[in-house]
Amino acid sequence: MNTRPTIAPLVAAALLLAASAADGRAQAADSGVPRLQRQGTATQLYVDGRPFLMLGGELHNSSSSSLAYMAPLWPRLAAMPMNTVLTPVSWELTEPEEGRYDFELVDGLVRDARRNNLHLVLLWLASWKNGMSSYAPLWVKRDTARFSRVPDKDGNLRELLSPLGEASRDADSRAFAAMMRHLREVDGREHTVLMVQVENEVGILGDTRDRSAGANKAFDGPVPKPLLDYIVQHRETLVPEFRKVWEGAGSKASGTWTEVFGTGAGTDEVFMAWHYASYVGRVAAAGKAEYPIPMYANAWLSAEWSPEPGAYPSGGPLAHLMDVWHAGAPAIDLLAPDLYAPNFEEWCARYDRSGNPIFIPETAAGARGASTVFYAVGQHGAMGFSPFGIDRALVTEGPELGASYSVLLQLSPLILSHQGTGDMTGFLLTKEHPSATAKLGGYELEISLDSIFGRTVETGYGLIIVAGPDVFVGAGSGFMVKFKPVSPGPPLFGVAAIDEGTYRDGDWVAGRRLNGDEDDQGLHWRFPSWTVGIQHCTLYRYR
Ligand code: DGJ
Repeated sequence: MNTRPTIAPLVAAALLLAASAADGRAQAADSGVPRLQRQGTATQLYVDGRPFLMLGGELHNSSSSSLAYMAPLWPRLAAMPMNTVLTPVSWELTEPEEGRYDFELVDGLVRDARRNNLHLVLLWLASWKNGMSSYAPLWVKRDTARFSRVPDKDGNLRELLSPLGEASRDADSRAFAAMMRHLREVDGREHTVLMVQVENEVGILGDTRDRSAGANKAFDGPVPKPLLDYIVQHRETLVPEFRKVWEGAGSKASGTWTEVFGTGAGTDEVFMAWHYASYVGRVAAAGKAEYPIPMYANAWLSAEWSPEPGAYPSGGPLAHLMDVWHAGAPAIDLLAPDLYAPNFEEWCARYDRSGNPIFIPETAAGARGASTVFYAVGQHGAMGFSPFGIDRALVTEGPELGASYSVLLQLSPLILSHQGTGDMTGFLLTKEHPSATAKLGGYELEISLDSIFGRTVETGYGLIIVAGPDVFVGAGSGFMVKFKPVSPGPPLFGVAAIDEGTYRDGDWVAGRRLNGDEDDQGLHWRFPSWTVGIQHCTLYRYR
């Protein structure tokens, strides 16, 4: 007979509670159409009335333009395992002639995703992709008189639509609305498509701002009242770096762009952010009027080595411009970083402000993605995570990301019930940052890189959840935990039991009892670096 103490009933009760609370909210709120819902400090994606953790990957830009090219990929993506594919849907292929729509690709992608039990996030590549306008249909590209463009410094037109161009904004909005109307018809019940990214990495490259005649006139004119009203009303909660710029120029409630924000590249960037946000917000609103699922804008981040706007797209949804985007694009539900930078934690923190929901639509796959996903989901309550070029990663990368996803998929009900509550921590450990601390469940946890036969491992990552009094669930690789009680009670403590195991359909299935070297004879909770695992750890207090 198995006489081990088990926390299965505690975890099951937590899951049941979470499920019934979610069901109650869902009945009140909607018919299961994807939507966002706040839980504590986190924002979660709800699908069919339940929270959903997107563990996904983004295809290379051209993969989904051919259903035949995609056909052998779907089962391989599903087997990774993962649950969501981020896939482009372009304006050029959706509206090849003005007013004639072709939804064959969208329909095929939805059908094939369903067959493979996968969800989709659609990336609407339309007026802009990586700052340029290469995905606009040819009838838009050819008509430079109707669809205004941004000139280069010599005055020559570039293949770059102006964000002040009303004709392209309205044409893009019509096409996007048609696509969302069609999506409601084909997916309004099944909810294969979870969210839509509107445009891709917008902003001006090679200059700090649009210098077309229309843009110059707007730049010399007054800052629009809706932006100033927003700034004044949200003064106390503006992100500090933006507030500093506005207050540094005298906290004005009216004036031209240079009067309100001062002179320099930063003002050009705020001007561009307002116009991109207004345009993208209009496109998103037109789509939401047809089918209101969550929509987001993604950002090409400023890099430490290129801090000037224009070296990265000027005016994109960067963290320091969050307030301008919130003011200009209320139909955009979240701003998302394409996070390839090495300082992953810092960027998560910059985007985890002002109530911005956390979603990582592009990042590294492989071993790096296998570690950062734990941090995003466990520490910042991310609703989803999606390395870029996932079809290539299937071939070029090892199994690490799939191993992490496999563990996180098992744990997702537990993770979802704890995101935003303060009862979960996520961490990334490296030689440069070998330890982290957290206060959880009445204990102080010192989490550090594990060592094997006296040698410290190079990386560690994971998350830890409080599952009940003196009970923790941990998952990850290459770390060890030292506990110290900090809540009232007996001063001493020890390990009651550490078990590794798996979750099958939400039920805990215990494997080995871990003791001896595996927990340093009861002194530490350890996660070996050669695998990604789930463990339950129960402590006891005594005097
Ligand atoms: C970021 C873009 O958003 C993607 O579409 C793709 O171009 C990658 N960069 C390429 O690294």
